[in-house]
Amino acid sequence: MYPVPVAGVRELLVTSGSTMAAAEVARQMSEGARNLSLSGHVGFDSMPDQLVNKSVCQGFCFNILCVGETGLGKSTLMDTLFNTRFEGDPAVHNQPGVHIKSNNYELQESNVRLKLSIVNSVGFGDQINKEESYKSIVEFIDAQFEAYLQEELKIKRTLHNYHDSRIHVCLYFIAPTGHSLKSLDLVTMKKLDSKVNIIPIIAKADSISKNELQKFKIKIMSELVSNGVQIYQFPTDDETVAEINGTMNAHLPFAVVGSTEEIKIGNKMMKARQYPWGTVQVENENHCDFVKLREMLIRVNMEDLREQTHTRHYELYRRCKLEEMGFKDTDPDNKPFSLQETYEAKRNEFLGELQKKEEEMRQMFVMRVKEKESELKEAEKELHDKFDRLKKLHQDEKKKLEDKKKSLDDEINAFKQRKTAAELLQSQAQQSGSQQTLKREKERKNSGFL
Ligand code: GTP
Ligand code: MG
Repeated sequence: MYPVPVAGVRELLVTSGSTMAAAEVARQMSEGARNLSLSGHVGFDSMPDQLVNKSVCQGFCFNILCVGETGLGKSTLMDTLFNTRFEGDPAVHNQPGVHIKSNNYELQESNVRLKLSIVNSVGFGDQINKEESYKSIVEFIDAQFEAYLQEELKIKRTLHNYHDSRIHVCLYFIAPTGHSLKSLDLVTMKKLDSKVNIIPIIAKADSISKNELQKFKIKIMSELVSNGVQIYQFPTDDETVAEINGTMNAHLPFAVVGSTEEIKIGNKMMKARQYPWGTVQVENENHCDFVKLREMLIRVNMEDLREQTHTRHYELYRRCKLEEMGFKDTDPDNKPFSLQETYEAKRNEFLGELQKKEEEMRQMFVMRVKEKESELKEAEKELHDKFDRLKKLHQDEKKKLEDKKKSLDDEINAFKQRKTAAELLQSQAQQSGSQQTLKREKERKNSGFL
């Protein structure tokens, strides 16, 4: 589906007078090719038809990312654009951060099948601190590029039926109120502009007056330019669409109104929004730019958006990623770098880094062991000192106790001596007392009773 570089320019270039496309291809191919005129119809003029048939058979995929603050009418606009009602419950908006919600649908118009992904940045702008709001969006876009790159790098690739989830366009919804872009809008668009085709749109344009809208558009564009934000420009290199695309570029950002409500205007059913003072017709170009957006996004530039995604944004991601992985196209002497050499170089670099890391870890280990050793020695010394101090204390205590014991022993001995003396005195006193009693008894007996 995407242009594949052809190895070596064709040696022969044949132009068939009957086929414009072939003549154009012939003109574009390298000069110096030999022209042959055919004597009869060969049939390769059906090549474009073959391509169309193959593409129709495979179906197409288109992935839209809607970024914008809560309630700006993102879902309504998607429903209006594709003339259907995409199911889905309203998202909750009290999350601490922004999260990405992707829904896949299969649509069919005539015999063309479209695999459509609508990716929403739920909770964008809901947080008090909006510094990190863009992060999950950038990560999601990168993750889709990474998945495609991984598929490309596989030995057994299935890119022909790979479900491509890379984001082809980011519709950035700008609030209609206010005088200019918010810093959140500028920061987010700046972070996204190298990763995705951004189409800025002013949402709910029915709530801004005609004069104000013109001023608002000019202000937004000048702010985008002065901040270096690259938005998607409708291509003007294909002369069949150059004029319309050039005109439409001047209308950016599109001011849109969405509605799924249909009312009868004249004898036609029209998508519109009804107000007490009148009706806003979604598909009326005097009322809003909805038709311009639909023309540019779906009818004229859908394929260019897909191609830009592949050749510009994915290519940039791929280049950075491969360079990061160590792949190069040429070596310092400008010779082509082979995959084997790149692998070897990367392997050596990796091994070198591993050795360096190992050495660092070893040195770190030795240092830590030394530190631990000196810590242990210090602790051991402290323990010894403590032991000596305790030992001395113990000896002093012991000596004091021995002295005290000795003095107590002396006191006991002295007490014992005093006790023995006292007992002796007491027994002598008792003896003399009993002798006197006997003597008095004898005297009484002698004097009276006998
Ligand atoms: P979240 O997914 O919750 O962030 O909201 P959203 O951005 O998908 O908005 P949604 O489409 O759910 O619309 C929110 C409200 O705005 C609904 O009441 C819509 O009817 C209304 N609305 C949608 N589009 C427009 C519009 O163009 N103009 C006006 N005035 N109201 C609109
Ligand atoms: Mg929604």
